[in-house]
Amino acid sequence: MTEEALILSETDRHVGIIRLNRPKVLNALNPQLMTQLAEQMETFDGDDAIHVILLAGSERAWAAGADIGDMAECSTLQMYQRDQFATWDRFKRIKKPIVAAVSGYALGGGCELMMLCDVVIASETAQIGQPEINIGVMPGAGGTQRLTRAVGKATAMDVILTGRFLSAKEALAAGLISRVVPKEHYFTEALRVAHAMAAKGPIALRLAKDAVLKAFETTLSEGLEYERKLFYMLFSTEDQKEGMRAFMEKRKPKFKGK
Ligand code: CAA
Repeated sequence: MTEEALILSETDRHVGIIRLNRPKVLNALNPQLMTQLAEQMETFDGDDAIHVILLAGSERAWAAGADIGDMAECSTLQMYQRDQFATWDRFKRIKKPIVAAVSGYALGGGCELMMLCDVVIASETAQIGQPEINIGVMPGAGGTQRLTRAVGKATAMDVILTGRFLSAKEALAAGLISRVVPKEHYFTEALRVAHAMAAKGPIALRLAKDAVLKAFETTLSEGLEYERKLFYMLFSTEDQKEGMRAFMEKRKPKFKGK
């Protein structure tokens, strides 16, 4: 028997598209789905033809969290031994930019998955939160750390301790997502943004992502030093020469990822 496809993937020029595919449970993130997702992400990350990854849910739900049914009766020992959130660490190692197309519910693990993406294009219908407190637990896949770093203590405490959902507008104002668009266009707009990014130099894209993420992990001085080194490093690429020469010659650059 073949494994059930909990994600769907396709390519569109230089964009690798992945869609979460558990509609009956609002894309609840069980360990099997997360494993398939990590594998597909790594496949796109290793494919030279792909410059940007686009991750989408459905219109009703990006993802309504970790799969509650899957965990409900687990003991501490079972949770510890299966260590399901370890799979999530594989996302941190994806070097190419990830665009999230978010509509409807992005809750619990769904919000945490969204925060692992780099540019978030959300429908005006998006509802974003960490409602684990309603079911007797707390965020377990990064919510207390990434949400706090993204929106600050006051909003993070409000969201995590009350379980309330942020509207797309609130999430945008709080700096949690990148853009809000009308619901009919959220996917096409996310794809448009992904294509626009994919037209840039692929090495510069990867290093720029790397440098921004470094800001969450290090001091300002070390981060600035790291950024400067990556900037200088880009001068060993053909794309840097092409990009700057094209500007001087008033033409569009043709990047090769070299
Ligand atoms: N896990 C498993 N199943 C889920 C689910 C989840 N996180 N979220 C929704 N579902 C299922 C529902 O059980 C329901 O299944 P049935 O049709 O078989 O009953 C189906 O999806 C549709 O959901 P609802 O009928 O509840 O739809 P609704 O529109 O009335 O409500 C909702 C939508 C507000 C998102 C509600 O489903 C909800 O509150 N879901 C749970 C959200 C949540 O608590 N997420 C955090 C999970 S824990 C976590 O993520 C830990 C972590 O840090 C990683």
